[in-house]
Amino acid sequence: MTTALITGATAGIGAAFARRLAADGHNLVLVARDTERLQEQATELHDRHGIEAEVLTADLSREDGIGAVEERLADRKHPVDLLVNNAGFGNKGRFLEVSMADELTMLKVHCEAVLRLTAAAAGPMRERGRGGVVNVASVAAFVPRGTYGASKAWVVQFTQGAARDLAGSGVRLMALCPGFVRTEFHQRAGMGTDNIPGWMWLDADKLVASALSDLAKGKSLSIPDPRYKALMGVVKLTPRGLLGGLTSKTGRKYGPQ
Ligand SMILES: NC(=O)c1ccc[n+]([C@@H]2O[C@H](COP(=O)([O-])OP(=O)(O)OC[C@H]3O[C@@H](n4cnc5c(N)ncnc54)[C@H](OP(=O)(O)O)[C@@H]3O)[C@@H](O)[C@H]2O)c1
Repeated sequence: MTTALITGATAGIGAAFARRLAADGHNLVLVARDTERLQEQATELHDRHGIEAEVLTADLSREDGIGAVEERLADRKHPVDLLVNNAGFGNKGRFLEVSMADELTMLKVHCEAVLRLTAAAAGPMRERGRGGVVNVASVAAFVPRGTYGASKAWVVQFTQGAARDLAGSGVRLMALCPGFVRTEFHQRAGMGTDNIPGWMWLDADKLVASALSDLAKGKSLSIPDPRYKALMGVVKLTPRGLLGGLTSKTGRKYGPQ
């Protein structure tokens, strides 16, 4: 039986990864800050699918939280075969409206934690000659969109570069770029979603199915859903100045996070 470790496992996209991987028979290590919620989730997934679900409470914006997950990933007696770096959040407001502390927390969770956990997982995976890492970015990586978009652009660049460096080692790395997904994300950040057209919303379970299929195919970048593939095709062809104007008109409050 293989083991998957998922950060931000208790809600939204992370919870969808946990449901799908448990249904496929993987043991799980569930990581988030809310221990009670993690324990309820672990019990439910164990009872429903007969898998082992371990709980690891960790705040990935803190040194001790990242360190605890690094330590678990480096445990060669209990190897992790798939790492899903999914934990993330949004900050409401534009540049200079968001406090510097919140900007830096975002970089810690979206970039430093992803870098360190990917390294902690990929080393032992390379020794075993197999394993996978999914780093959850966003389509916001492809448009000028403040620290959030910049942090997700880093996730894409880092993951694709590392995937290239580890090619042939048996370790697969993939950046996952969702569009809008109905989760707790927007509510937690205090962002309104009323003016996001219905067609732009993706289903978390379908997103995860598509991501895992792309990982199995060996892709280093996954943009699930034909709607967003087409949209990102247009984005690539649009001059950056115009793109910045369009996205700032839309308002960060309502942009793809
Ligand atoms: N929803 C979207 O439209 C969308 C679109 C593109 C990309 N994404 C990306 O998808 C990922 C998941 O987002 P989501 O929409 O599923 O969000 P969500 O529903 O708000 O879930 C976030 C999860 O991350 C955990 N988390 C948050 N901060 C954490 C921290 N400091 N340390 C450890 N765990 C933490 C939360 O649990 P605790 O609060 O208990 O820690 C929760 O389990 C994020 O990286 C996000 O940027 C989302």
